[in-house]
Amino acid sequence: MKVCLLMGSPDPNRRTGELCKPFIDELRHNNVEVDYITLHDKTIAPCLGCYHCQNISGEYGCIQKDDMQTIVESILKADILVFATPIYTWQVTPPMKAVMDRMFGLNKFYGSAPREVLNKGQIYALISTCGYDIDYGAGLLDDILVRWCSHSGLPYYGMYAVQDEDNLSSFRTKSAIDGAREFAQELIEYKYEKIKYIKIETTRLILRSLKESDAEAVSNNIKQPIAQHLIYDMVLETEEAALNWINWINNEKFNIAIPNVVLAIELKSSHECIGLIGVAPKQEIDNDIEIFFQIADEYQNNGYATEATKAMIWWAFEKADQDVLSAIVKPENKASRRVIEKLGFIYVETMNLPYDGTDCAFDYFRLNHTRR
Ligand SMILES: Cc1cc2nc3c(=O)[nH]c(=O)nc-3n(C[C@H](O)[C@H](O)[C@H](O)COP(=O)(O)O)c2cc1C
Repeated sequence: MKVCLLMGSPDPNRRTGELCKPFIDELRHNNVEVDYITLHDKTIAPCLGCYHCQNISGEYGCIQKDDMQTIVESILKADILVFATPIYTWQVTPPMKAVMDRMFGLNKFYGSAPREVLNKGQIYALISTCGYDIDYGAGLLDDILVRWCSHSGLPYYGMYAVQDEDNLSSFRTKSAIDGAREFAQELIEYKYEKIKYIKIETTRLILRSLKESDAEAVSNNIKQPIAQHLIYDMVLETEEAALNWINWINNEKFNIAIPNVVLAIELKSSHECIGLIGVAPKQEIDNDIEIFFQIADEYQNNGYATEATKAMIWWAFEKADQDVLSAIVKPENKASRRVIEKLGFIYVETMNLPYDGTDCAFDYFRLNHTRR
């Protein structure tokens, strides 16, 4: 996930910048890529109101060539666009106003270009600081964002604002810092709310989020001899234990932004849950994002692991923005090794890793995303 954060304060080391620090930190902590752009040091001419951009289809199209061109490139790459500004005369600061006006070219509403919003689906949010109480000081700007987003058909998440009561120290209080972190968390959740339930289809399989009704199948699959031998640290002897585990995964671990995702592998033909697959940070290998899978004994040697893993790799690279995936396999697990090597993972080294109370040898593999 990417956030473009535009900073409108004339001095980013002052109040508004201070409020943004924990916000940015929380985003990055959740693996969100943040493009932080200060505006005071950029050349952003005011909009000429020439409407040239309205006759250029499919691209920004502003006739003025200044720093706004690179700012627009960053805006268009982002899932969320955050405007951070102090309130000056109940409004944004001059460079922020210039950016907002110059974003006219993203909405093709008024010229010969076909009607289009170039940043369709992007979420807008606002961070503000002001001298008056929040409602009186920043309320008008919040309303402007509501109207602007409604006009463009874009979702507006809302505003996080803190009053400047005592210079910088107002923004270093626990409540200001916690509020900024919560705002970051809420934005991430808001972005992912629509895709909390993952479903990926392949020719024969559906990879989907776990349901409580999978508990019996998950417990049975993991109890089988080959699975027991290879993943004996993950004991889910009973249906109840599997149910608790599923709820723990879905309610506490599941996080697309990290990503930390475990999915059921369902057979399309019978809708049986025949295994598990996922990607998650693995503490033992420096929190590399590890891909892991397990197929019930009776369904092995049918190419299901390869089919599921290929789809999971695609999801991790294309939907979860990962550049590299890791896999660790016990040396005796020849079947899994064949699967990951077939899919392009490269052997790096054999490592001794803590496993179920002892050290155990694992072959360590990596796969880089080659972007076209
Ligand atoms: C020129 C100017 C105009 C301001 N206008 C307002 C205003 O209309 N309403 C308000 O609540 N605060 C106003 N303030 C106070 C600032 O919004 C507040 O101090 C803010 O935290 C400054 O952030 P900064 O240090 O990032 O510039 C104004 C401050 C300045 C310098």
